[in-house]
Amino acid sequence: MTSDVTIPRRLRAVAIVGSLRADSYNQLLLDNVIRLSPDELEIRQFPRFAEIPLFNEDQARISTPDAVAELQAEVRAADALVIATPEYNYGVPGVLKNALDWISMPPGNSGLEGKPVALVGASPSILGTARAQSQLRQSFVSTQSHVVNTPEVFVTRAHTRFEDGVLIDPGATKLIGRLLDNLVMLARTVGATDQRSTERVGTR
Ligand SMILES: Cc1cc2nc3c(=O)[nH]c(=O)nc-3n(C[C@H](O)[C@H](O)[C@H](O)COP(=O)(O)O)c2cc1C
Repeated sequence: MTSDVTIPRRLRAVAIVGSLRADSYNQLLLDNVIRLSPDELEIRQFPRFAEIPLFNEDQARISTPDAVAELQAEVRAADALVIATPEYNYGVPGVLKNALDWISMPPGNSGLEGKPVALVGASPSILGTARAQSQLRQSFVSTQSHVVNTPEVFVTRAHTRFEDGVLIDPGATKLIGRLLDNLVMLARTVGATDQRSTERVGTR
């Protein structure tokens, strides 16, 4: 007897950390997000983030730097994007905004369009990157990406939350689990919608 149960394929997310600091709390946070990700979601950090040059629209018209092209391709191919952001001066760190501006090219047809996005952030302050994440959400309106609405993951007082690299805050750990479950749900919904529109176009 045959069974027609279909197992959904494993989803793939690409991740970036908006800090170049060697002992970055946000890198630790992403390491923990990857560790906590459900079986159905594989998260891979983009390894060449530090090689992304300053965005220059003139240059972007002529050629795309190698690391940027790789990042753009990885984001386009991925089912989702995961971002761990610090907060600098109440805002998004320059290196992260710079990378997002590159990924947003070409406007109107970038890999960010329709992309499910999950945000997390860590800071020693008591607001834990709330303002930076709020700004990121605004930018993702412009790129027409789908940011997971809830839960919001703000790791506050980050210097007290890790032991030997492990996140020891049970509240934040639980929220990360829920965030990733919601990201999977959103990515599957967006993926199914995309497939339906492809089928519609294909049969016209
Ligand atoms: C230029 C600068 C501005 C900062 N501004 C803020 C801020 O507005 N809010 C905040 O929570 N932390 C702020 N911080 C502290 C950072 O949250 C802290 O350095 C954090 O560890 C950076 O993230 P990372 O550990 O992932 O590198 C600032 C740090 C720097 C260097």
